[in-house]
Amino acid sequence: MSDKRLIVVVTRRLPDAVELRLKELFDAELNESDAAFSENQLIDAVSRADVLVSTVTDPVTGKVLSHAGDQLKMIAQFGAGVDNIDVQAANERGVTVTNTPGVLTDDTADVTMALLLAVPRRMHEGIELMEAGKFDGWAPTWMMGRRLAGKRLGLIGTGRIGQAAARRSKAFGLQIHNHNRKKVSRPVEEELDATYWDSLDQMLARMDIVSVNCPHTPATFHLLNARRLELMKPDAFIVNTARGEVIDEAALAKALQNGKLAGAGLDVFEREPAVNPDLVGLPNVILLPHMGSATVEGRVEMGEKVIINIKTFADGHRPPDRVIPAIL
Ligand code: 8YV
Repeated sequence: MSDKRLIVVVTRRLPDAVELRLKELFDAELNESDAAFSENQLIDAVSRADVLVSTVTDPVTGKVLSHAGDQLKMIAQFGAGVDNIDVQAANERGVTVTNTPGVLTDDTADVTMALLLAVPRRMHEGIELMEAGKFDGWAPTWMMGRRLAGKRLGLIGTGRIGQAAARRSKAFGLQIHNHNRKKVSRPVEEELDATYWDSLDQMLARMDIVSVNCPHTPATFHLLNARRLELMKPDAFIVNTARGEVIDEAALAKALQNGKLAGAGLDVFEREPAVNPDLVGLPNVILLPHMGSATVEGRVEMGEKVIINIKTFADGHRPPDRVIPAIL
């Protein structure tokens, strides 16, 4: 492929430096309005582009891909998760899919920690109260939250972000437990002093806080369903900075409303940007607008990864962050 003439369609606005470099290197079509692409726009893009630069807001489905022209060679996702892309269908058409792992690990783990700290310590209630001018003076039994140190944190998913969250949590005195498709390496397990649970059900029943850090795949869809949420202790908290689809959002809202769970911190939702209205306004719930990786540094580095993936591919090499269906 001659990279000079590569048509690269970018579905969303990216940081200025990233857009500038994309323009220098390729025939880049940028989205100045930043409005998310409709299905028709995605179909148009895959029918013309050599490379599509997609984000979480672009459902690159089998249907969309069925309109891809032979010229489409690559989907370079700006993001670590690729659940918006039918990777299998892309690969069957000979389209390479890449993502941007690694560069958003710390930022997402930081937001996980922010929620881990903020929910049990009732920060949301405290802020609202101050903003409403309702601080009438300190009292010994007022605004009591729950202590983190000494509690059990159960991580669902211990990839890069899960491990980074575990390291931070250990520093806060939490005991690390985890459930994953496969165990973390022995050195990491020892470093984190982590307990591995083969049975998710058994882990859930014993945790004080559960953090979702796994990708959304067919195997993890509604992994935390009504039955599993019921296994949790009524004084336990849930944090999710991964994908909303991993939790049955309606069941979660019900559990929170009925006092079957103590609270939740959610950065991601099942039907983004829609949020289950039953989750809104609960005093023990913090909702964030999918901002786990939203730092200036992170977004620039994600863009750089997109560029490296495209450039490497255009130069005839295997791009560093190729996604293959077998690892999903
Ligand atoms: C991104 C994310 O902002 O990388 C991911 O998978 O969830 C977010 O942090 C978004 O997905 C970009 O496409």
